[in-house]
Amino acid sequence: MCGIVGYVGGEEAAPILLDGLARLEYRGYDSAGVAIFDGERLRVAKTKGRLRALSDMIQGGSAIRGSIGVGHTRWATHGAPSDVNSHPQVSRSGRIAVVHNGIIENYAELKAFLVSQGVDFASETDTEVVAQLIEYFYDGDILKAVGRVLHRIEGAYALGIICGDEPERLIAVRKDSPLILGLGEGFNFLASDVTAIIKHTRNVVYMEDGEIAELTREGVTCYNHLLQPVRKEVSHVDWEIDAAEKGGYEHFMLKEIMEQPEALRRAIFPRIRDGEVILEDFGLSDEYIRALRKIFIVACGSSYHVGMVGKYNLEKLLRIPVEVTLASEFRYMDPILDDNTLVIVISQSGETLDTMAALREAKGLGAKILSIVNVVGSSIARESDVVLYTWAGPEIAVATTKAYSTQLAVVDLLGLYFARKRGSITAERRQAAVGELLLLPSKLEQVLEKQEAIQYFASQYFNHDSIFFIGRNVDYALGLEGSLKLKEISYIHSEAYASGELKHGTISLIEDGTLVVAVATYARLFDKAMSNVVEVKSRGADVLALTTEDRAETMGRNANAIITIPDTDELLLPSLGVAPLQLLAYYIALMRGCDIDKPRNLAKSVTVE
Ligand code: AGP
Repeated sequence: MCGIVGYVGGEEAAPILLDGLARLEYRGYDSAGVAIFDGERLRVAKTKGRLRALSDMIQGGSAIRGSIGVGHTRWATHGAPSDVNSHPQVSRSGRIAVVHNGIIENYAELKAFLVSQGVDFASETDTEVVAQLIEYFYDGDILKAVGRVLHRIEGAYALGIICGDEPERLIAVRKDSPLILGLGEGFNFLASDVTAIIKHTRNVVYMEDGEIAELTREGVTCYNHLLQPVRKEVSHVDWEIDAAEKGGYEHFMLKEIMEQPEALRRAIFPRIRDGEVILEDFGLSDEYIRALRKIFIVACGSSYHVGMVGKYNLEKLLRIPVEVTLASEFRYMDPILDDNTLVIVISQSGETLDTMAALREAKGLGAKILSIVNVVGSSIARESDVVLYTWAGPEIAVATTKAYSTQLAVVDLLGLYFARKRGSITAERRQAAVGELLLLPSKLEQVLEKQEAIQYFASQYFNHDSIFFIGRNVDYALGLEGSLKLKEISYIHSEAYASGELKHGTISLIEDGTLVVAVATYARLFDKAMSNVVEVKSRGADVLALTTEDRAETMGRNANAIITIPDTDELLLPSLGVAPLQLLAYYIALMRGCDIDKPRNLAKSVTVE
């Protein structure tokens, strides 16, 4: 995934583009570049490395004058990170520059055609093909040239285009990669997401797939793929700029961990009234909900781990089968579903290509799509029949935390809502769970107060090179998330294992000093969890146990160390248990000197297959 930004207005473009790119760097940080018209020609500055390297190259922006330009920060797909493969990519004459987020799937054949026409290529990127092809079709009108190119390229793309021969207009194009327009008085923006432009304007247009936009200082005109003008709704963004700032924390990840109680209040409280879950304007009828025979949950990464918890919880509440599948697998497994199957798609970014493709596959098979998404107006949200937003606010750290916990809460709200409609649990059971949902944010605040104790544990364990997470039922699902958090930011190898499965092979890896995090919050299986702790201890493991306060003493007889959470409804245990595991991963990574907000090889949203 990459970040793109474009500006046309009355101020110097370079500093504005650099500031926008700094807010998009979480989307990719292999290299960065800008292309700005300086009054005579397009000036391009780009370099491998972080945005700081680009900023230094152009003296914070002062080295390039001009009030129209585009910028890019890259997560490499085609072509290794290098100066020449950085964006903007430029046409042979140098008069057309393109920044791109996505993949041009037929770039090889287009490149072969252009080479046969005598076009020389400088880079290994798919994006350069777009710049060269626009020049190939260019006859004095950049909008028409882009229109011709769009009929020939295949793939996913958000494009920002500038032409030195027409330096008063920018062109924006969207297909399968997010792109928004920021509208101002005497200035306009294009950007991958709102964080890049909210400092300047809150009035945004969410572009749809296949749309093209022409931006000038005076205004913005949108077109469909036939270059017919289309009217677009202007949305007003209401969250504060500091929501996308660190707010005094050393890392976005720690800020977002600590924001979780507030995020949960935003996700839960508006959806509970008089002790019942209320989903306003919910697009599924009571009849449809009662007729449901199966649920498929489809997602990737941490969102998939939410789905794993969701399986256990929804099956308890609804007594219908709930299948959880990795989106990248769902697409190729000939899934068995029909119009009595609800497909729940979970995605923080709403742009994950695997998940989007699975959504389209399920839609094609006749299922209704309900998505649980954080980014408002994202592609997945726009293509779903029903959307439940998590309202976590912008999540900048690559490793998700508050989005994960608000997704969990929304799944539980949905389960309780469906259970009420289907009459599948008693009113007492439902109201007990709703009561605990309302207490969840304050109980989570109690857990977060253990931050220093967890930091101490991290100091004991940060030098391990392999860490196991074991658990049963929802504790196993929670262990999956704890293991992924640890892996992605500390680079320590880790696996999460169903405790009962250890003895079928993997226990051979347990030896003196192996660290095992035993997740044992689920009361019904606590005794089993204890026997698994004894099982690994007897083979030399060090055990860090996560359990509820009322079981600390019992667990203390066997575990080397204990982290506790307040007791709560069994549906909500992962919502409390995840915070200590997030903090453990954070502090271990911090002690290992890792780049916590921007881990190597990762991007905030994976918009490639
Ligand atoms: C989570 O910490 C990871 N960054 C990653 O697994 C992520 O959850 C996954 O890529 C799915 O992203 P999405 O929720 O935006 O679809």
